[in-house]
Amino acid sequence: MQEANSHLHPDVATVLDGLEISDRPINHPAGARVMPKEAYMSQAFFDFERDAVFMHSWLCVGRVQQIAQPGDYMAVTLLGEPLIIVHGHDSEIHAMSALCRHRGHTLVEECAGNAKRLICPYHRWTYTIEGELVGAPRMSDAVKIRKLREESALPQLRVEIWYGFIFINFDKDAKPLAPSMVKLEPYMQGYDLDSMVTLPPSFIKDPLPWNWKMLFENYIEPYHTEYVHPVIHDFAPSTGTEFDPWRGDDDNVIVRYVPFLAPDGGLTEKGWAAPACFPPIETLSAKQRHRVGFGMVPPTMNIIFTPDMLCYGMVYPLSPTTLTVGGGLFTAGGWCMPKSTVALPDFADRVGRMMEGSRQLGEQDTSVNLAMQRAKFSRFAPRGRLAPLEETLSQFNRWLAIRYRQQGARMGYAPKNEAGGRRAAI
Ligand SMILES: [Fe+2]
Repeated sequence: MQEANSHLHPDVATVLDGLEISDRPINHPAGARVMPKEAYMSQAFFDFERDAVFMHSWLCVGRVQQIAQPGDYMAVTLLGEPLIIVHGHDSEIHAMSALCRHRGHTLVEECAGNAKRLICPYHRWTYTIEGELVGAPRMSDAVKIRKLREESALPQLRVEIWYGFIFINFDKDAKPLAPSMVKLEPYMQGYDLDSMVTLPPSFIKDPLPWNWKMLFENYIEPYHTEYVHPVIHDFAPSTGTEFDPWRGDDDNVIVRYVPFLAPDGGLTEKGWAAPACFPPIETLSAKQRHRVGFGMVPPTMNIIFTPDMLCYGMVYPLSPTTLTVGGGLFTAGGWCMPKSTVALPDFADRVGRMMEGSRQLGEQDTSVNLAMQRAKFSRFAPRGRLAPLEETLSQFNRWLAIRYRQQGARMGYAPKNEAGGRRAAI
């Protein structure tokens, strides 16, 4: 008899079979454990994960302020898909495939700008900014333009705007984003984003050589900060961390905060310290001015709440073992700041001081991430028990497990039963 999951790549079956001990609350008596190594290095699993996670999740691509006027657009490549995000003349934000419907040349290269029309550089097929074909040179002998227009609109993705952040979704049937984001509401209070300025993220030039999940894992767990970032993280001691509990299947936020040793701190050239590089935001509560909040909206966004700004970043995988990243204190930008802050005469100097702190944290985390990636190729790669201060890692694993299982079900994966055999595929 044929093995029930023989149609799946062995790496995919290995991860699905091994999910149970990762998909647990942190206080499970047998431990909530690290995911199987194949989830971090296998090309076959990465292909599975692209469908499981990225083709069904809300993906942050930036802020509306980046395309504030009708005709403004920005190009973004996500999971190998060239996309264009536009502010239409209908005042709506649209996300579309950036491939010309003729033979697939990209309509815009990696950039942003303002345009009345999108014109393919290859054969000058021309589209409205909202993605309708309006003209195609020398095609009228072959087909009526009306017919060509009907079959040549740019494929549209779902779009949802949350506090001015643009999220897109490849899945037309995805549940709305906002209800899954309620855990961030208390963090968002006091940041009047509409009146603040957005400085968009700058992306790194060379890919980082590790799996995308590792960047988030290192970012979201406070267990390591005392040991990997001595001195420069002392102002935000991990032992004070408060975790927001996991709320189950419809929860799309993982977030924790760390109280500062004094109010109005932030990232400085000396690491986390007070006073912050920028003036505190007066509309924040006393509690918000005494802490840093570290959040993530998997699978692409991190978001950091400090007394002087709101900082966001984008994390995009490129392959099983490479990723690109922009903002989020990993690189410059991704900053929402009061206008009065950006107008300070010494603003550039202050930015320089903060980025020096970012550099120090980043270098220390890089050595850790490189070691973690190497471990995933070892036959002795551990599936270790997560620590209480790694509550956020068990939440991330549970978020992932839901999506891995859903994709497994779509592909006819037959789960193992308790005796170790398999139920028949449904
Ligand atoms: Fe770190």
